[in-house]
Amino acid sequence: METHKSNPISRLIDPLTFETFIKEVFEKKHHLSGGSGLFKEFSVSMFEGLLWAHQHLVGEQIDVNKNGSSVYYNKAEAGKDPFRWVIDQYMKGCTIIFNGIDDIHAAVAKDVRPLDKIFKGKTTANAFLTPSNSRGFLPHFDTHDVFIVQTSGKKKWVLYEKEMDLPLDNQIYLIDQDKLGDPIDTYLLEAGDVLYIPRGMVHGSFTEDDHSLHITVGIRPLLGIDYLNKMLEVISENDVAFRKSIALANLEEKSDDVELLMDKLQSGFNNPYLRKLTREKIDAKLASQSKPVPGHHLENNQQIENLCLETNVVKAFLQNDALVDSGKKIRLVFPGAGFVATDNPKPGYLEFPAIAFGALNFIRKSSKPFMPKEISDFYPDETKLLIVKQLLKEGYLKFA
Ligand SMILES: [Fe+2]
Repeated sequence: METHKSNPISRLIDPLTFETFIKEVFEKKHHLSGGSGLFKEFSVSMFEGLLWAHQHLVGEQIDVNKNGSSVYYNKAEAGKDPFRWVIDQYMKGCTIIFNGIDDIHAAVAKDVRPLDKIFKGKTTANAFLTPSNSRGFLPHFDTHDVFIVQTSGKKKWVLYEKEMDLPLDNQIYLIDQDKLGDPIDTYLLEAGDVLYIPRGMVHGSFTEDDHSLHITVGIRPLLGIDYLNKMLEVISENDVAFRKSIALANLEEKSDDVELLMDKLQSGFNNPYLRKLTREKIDAKLASQSKPVPGHHLENNQQIENLCLETNVVKAFLQNDALVDSGKKIRLVFPGAGFVATDNPKPGYLEFPAIAFGALNFIRKSSKPFMPKEISDFYPDETKLLIVKQLLKEGYLKFA
């Protein structure tokens, strides 16, 4: 696990180490840290520029909200373009929310994608711009953890006791505002501050005499239920007993059919081969959930002819990826991989002969720059160069 200062997780939890954060804070309690420097370039004028460039997303990815309710754009009624209308709403006290800013803004994406890998999950970043003396959302709880990164202005956050411990998505509901207890903590976030709020904890926010711009990084880590669901899927694909209909007179009664499946489930969990398949499937799913980060495709392709056995190359980004062994072929799955199968449009992947597994595994596990000649001598030099060249072209590697 990389936890040095340049890693975005370190900047979110400073001065805690990642190990301390996971052991003492994560999924347990809120935590304030200061001086993160994360997204510090993300200014109000940059927000406005993105809003202008992507105004066709108003009503889709860009929301306008006042006191917890959405305000909708109607071109005929507004009589002006979406950008100008949104500015008007802001001046009337509305919060402007740019959802999925990590899919729009490359600098934010570069800081957010590594979190996917660190938390083995899906991370999204939403930007919120609120004018002074305004409230965006009423106190509520979320089903994902959040890091609130204040980038400009100030916002007051009021935290209440957890409504539920680590709720699942289907356990969400609106809380009764009349039954809110006393706040357990109140913070005035200023530029550089980061507030971590675990899922299930009730929180509300408002501005006073200053505007507020913050990016909320929402984390959906891999849960126990996600792991078990995937393993059950793998076991079922390998044992017809799980794929048979189940004849139960009364679903609440204990039955021999179910007992048998439970026994098979237990032995499936003890099977290293099925655990490996589960791991591959989870890795592939995680790798397919994120969009690629731009940055190196063009430069790599401009320099590709200079590649030799002594050239230093490195993985372009810390991001979720997977190496899937499908028998005769090996697939390297990662966001933005060049080939997307038409029969399964989800994950993009590069496909190699099975014999390339060792070389790909070496490259995938490398966290530091390496030279093609360092790949196992099991492979001829031309093969080492061929593999590295392809991974440079696809933006998985970059020149170090
Ligand atoms: Fe929230």
